[in-house]
Amino acid sequence: MTDPPRSPDVVWHQEGVPRAERWAASGLFGATVWLTGLSGSGKSTVAGALTRLLVSRGVATYTLDGDNLRHGLNGDLGFSATDRTENVRRVAEVARLFADAGIVAVVPLISPYRAGRDHARRLHVAAGLPFLEVFVDAPLDVCEARDPKGLYAKARAGELPGFTGIDDPYELPEHPDLVVAADQETPEAAAERIAARVGSETSAAR
Ligand code: ADX
Repeated sequence: MTDPPRSPDVVWHQEGVPRAERWAASGLFGATVWLTGLSGSGKSTVAGALTRLLVSRGVATYTLDGDNLRHGLNGDLGFSATDRTENVRRVAEVARLFADAGIVAVVPLISPYRAGRDHARRLHVAAGLPFLEVFVDAPLDVCEARDPKGLYAKARAGELPGFTGIDDPYELPEHPDLVVAADQETPEAAAERIAARVGSETSAAR
């Protein structure tokens, strides 16, 4: 999914202070928790609960919310397949930077295409950073019944073409690290489970 770089004559500058030293100096540890699922599945709610829990435990954490990033960094992107792919690519790069900085990046993003999510994982693996793909699994009819932003109603009325799950695809995760069944578990319980995985990933990597 990546095009060849358009600036082939730019040479990578090796950072002076190694990651381990930067992290150890401030007691940090970086990782990315990538929450994928339909609009209205509860990704942002779980992300909020997870961020609150990790922060309460003294873990440096930051939420990179898809909707919010579309107000700034990704404000130039729409919902075509090309734009979604670019959206996911940019967020994956930003999450990797946050993780490298020693922060747990919590990323609620529809990220409907498998290739984009796999790319996000590959970026982290190549950089030696923990990456957890969490599938927030709520059936379409549940998301549509919730319709917190009224967007499913608009999509059904034909006012919002290309809406994920209605007339744009959502490719189910094949090997997610965790599945959250949003209608069977509270956001707080899901957050506890995810935090435990983050803890085991980070202690394994220490
Ligand atoms: S993604 O597909 O590129 O990963 P992203 O998570 O950034 O999507 O943004 C999804 C949010 O944009 C949804 O929560 C919803 O509020 C809003 N949205 C607006 N138009 C669409 C659309 N056509 N498909 C999906 N979500 C949309």
